[in-house]
Amino acid sequence: MKKILIIGASSGLGQRLAMDFAKMGWRVGIAARRESALKAIKEFYPENVEYRTIDVTATDAVERFNLLIEQTDGMDVLLFASGIGFCDPELSQSILTDTLQTNVVGFARIVAEAYKYFRRTANNTPGQIAAITSVAATKGIGISAAYSSSKRFQQMFLDSLDQLAHQQHVNVKITDIRPGFVRTPILKEDKQYPMIMSIDHAAPLIEEAIIKRKRIATIDWRWSLVTGIWRLIPQCVWRHIELNW
Ligand SMILES: NC(=O)c1ccc[n+]([C@@H]2O[C@H](COP(=O)([O-])OP(=O)(O)OC[C@H]3O[C@@H](n4cnc5c(N)ncnc54)[C@H](OP(=O)(O)O)[C@@H]3O)[C@@H](O)[C@H]2O)c1
Repeated sequence: MKKILIIGASSGLGQRLAMDFAKMGWRVGIAARRESALKAIKEFYPENVEYRTIDVTATDAVERFNLLIEQTDGMDVLLFASGIGFCDPELSQSILTDTLQTNVVGFARIVAEAYKYFRRTANNTPGQIAAITSVAATKGIGISAAYSSSKRFQQMFLDSLDQLAHQQHVNVKITDIRPGFVRTPILKEDKQYPMIMSIDHAAPLIEEAIIKRKRIATIDWRWSLVTGIWRLIPQCVWRHIELNW
């Protein structure tokens, strides 16, 4: 039975993927801060779901993550799905700090620990580190500066681990999942977003990227096209483009 640990499984994409992997018969270890939501998933699939509360911004996050690995009897795949994001044109200090604590510090401490776990264990069975980053990392987005740059950090960290794994002969595959807008609680309910996807559309594409062990997967093909065009736009032109999300 394959084992996946999903951090950020109490709502949105992480929750849906936890349910889907459990349904597919995987052993699933889930974590987030809200215990009631984790417990509800366990109640659906009592045989193959284990849970533990983890706040990735807390100093005990790594210790609790290792306990969850033990509780799940090991780990073949880590999926890091925790994240926060805000539209913040005022550059509030609290939003800046919270976003970096969660998406940068929290992300790096869990992903680094997963890498070290696979370095110890993945000689025979290959490991996989997957993370949900975002298309928002493609260019600096003025109204979401902290979010956009935190997602760029995540992508760069994953690229770095991919190279480190090669140098250190660690049998671990890195999967960077980059969705466009998906209707989940991270988005404002009353706001319009371009090319927004339903979770029913996005989740199977993310699952396919994990199962096929893709290196980078942009969700979906339309966002792949759009971000390809964004990359061609020089900063002197990009700065004039008003994104209104
Ligand atoms: N939805 C989109 O349009 C979209 C697009 C691109 C990328 N993404 C990325 O996809 C990932 C999942 O987001 P989502 O759309 O599914 O949003 P969501 O429903 O708000 O889920 C976010 C998850 O992160 C967890 N989380 C937040 N802070 C945490 C902390 N300090 N410690 C542990 N877990 C924490 C939340 O759980 P608790 O609150 O219970 O801790 C929740 O389970 C995020 O990284 C997001 O940036 C989303």
